[in-house]
Parts: sequence; C-alpha cells; structure tokens
Amino acid sequence: MNPVDGQTAPEVVLEARGLVRRFPMGKADVEVLRGVNFSVARGEFTAILGSSGSGKSTLLHVLGLLDRPDAGEVLWNGEALAAAGESRRAELRATESAFVFQFYFLLPEFTAIENVLIAAAIARGRGRAPASRKERHERAVELLERVGLKERMQHRPAELSGGERQRVAIARGLMNRPSILFCDEPTGNLDSRTAARIHELLQQVNADLGQTILAVTHEKVMAECARRRLVMRDGVIGEES
Ligand SMILES: Nc1ncnc2c1ncn2[C@@H]1O[C@H](COP(=O)(O)OP(=O)(O)OP(=O)(O)O)[C@@H](O)[C@H]1O
Ligand SMILES: [Mg+2]
Repeated sequence: MNPVDGQTAPEVVLEARGLVRRFPMGKADVEVLRGVNFSVARGEFTAILGSSGSGKSTLLHVLGLLDRPDAGEVLWNGEALAAAGESRRAELRATESAFVFQFYFLLPEFTAIENVLIAAAIARGRGRAPASRKERHERAVELLERVGLKERMQHRPAELSGGERQRVAIARGLMNRPSILFCDEPTGNLDSRTAARIHELLQQVNADLGQTILAVTHEKVMAECARRRLVMRDGVIGEES
C-alpha cells in the first residue's frame, strides 16, 4: 500500500534497466540496444512499435531470457536475472513466460491440442502450470475453446489456416498461466481481416484473463490494439509521440 494516497502500487512484472546489446558487423560493433529502460505492470497490454531493423526482436529475446545483454539487466517479478544460471533461466522461461512468434512455431506432426499440451509437459507442474494429467487436458480444451478452435483440436498445423495456427500458439502460450506473454509480430504473416481478429483475441485474453502482454511490431494497427504504446527508436524506448 502506498501510505500517501492509500492506493496499491502496480506490481511490476518485467523491468529493463539500461539494456545494451551489440553485434559485430564487419570490423566494428553495431549497438542495437543502447540503454533500454522501461517496465511492465501486471495486467498491462503494452505494444512497442518500431521500424524494421530497429531492434525489436533483439529486445524481446533479451527480455524473454533467450539472449543475454552486453550490459544492463532484466528483472522478472523483481528478480534480477543477469547473474542467474542457465537452469534458473530455463525454469523461468518454461513457467513464467511464453512466446507467440510471427510464424507460429507449432510442431507439425502434433495435433492442435498436443501442441498446447507440450507447454505443460515442459513446465512439469512447476509455477502455475497445471499439475495433473487431467488438469492439463481440461485446461488445454478450455483454452482451445476460448480461442475459437473447439472443432479443430485434433487437426494438425498443416490442416489449419494461418489465423487458426496463431490461435493454437496463443492457447499454448496461456497454458502455464505465464507472468508475461511475449509476442513478436503476431499478425505479421496474416491478412488484415484475420489480423484484426487475432488483435481482438489478444485484447480479450488481456481483459478477461488479466494476462500481461508485451508485443513488438512494426504495424501501427497491431500497436493500436494495446492499451499502452511505446516506441523503439535509435536503440532506446520512448513514449509514443
Ligand atoms: N544475432 C545477430 N547477429 C548479428 N546481428 C544481428 C543479430 N540479431 C540481430 N542483428 C542485427 O540487429 C539489428 C536489429 O535486428 P532485429 O531483428 O532486432 O530488428 P527488428 O526490429 O526485429 O526488425 P523486423 O521488424 O524486421 O523484425 C539488425 O541490423 C540485425 O541485422
Ligand atoms: Mg523482428
């Protein structure tokens, strides 16, 4: 509780402090992230808008613990992870976060429901992931219904449209009740009508389940579906101008 106004301070799920990431290019290094600072509160739907090559995917990979920064640190739920070992980072990735990518990344030989169940298998009951086989199955069915795929659970990715594949990826992302759902150009591969329906779904997931979402995109319409918008420019994050 904030003693001054009696309001509860928003709980910070994710924090970036002075993130720097550089890559070798020819003889020099290119600094893609040049001191990124921002935080995400629980329940927020934030979009980061930036042009192609501005470093959005690089940022998301560092924030999602898929890559390490050259300087600065990432905190999840207040825990600083710069010095964390790979096993702790892997555990957190499996239980506290999920990714939705532009190209879905579903396993082609598995059905929709099996693709969703895989997230729970990896988490093995840790964190808020469903612990028993029965709970996992019930949650997978409930999520596939929520994303509108009640009749498609036994279909393989090749038998689903792009929009349906992304719905499976979103259901998979929600399986373990992650602290944060990272989305990298989630509608970049879809036509505008299908994209609009995925935007609606993400808004619903945020509003109905209170799911915290951080999406990066170069598409203005995608960014507009978020409640809070930031801009990535010259390696830093600013408020939308
Ligand atoms: N592993 C890497 N090695 C070298 N350079 C990299 C690497 N990853 C990214 N880069 C460079 O960093 C810059 C930012 O790339 P990034 O993929 O983060 O941009 P982006 O904003 O996601 O672009 P897009 O909108 O096209 O997806 C680019 O110049 C890219 O070539
Ligand atoms: Mg990218």
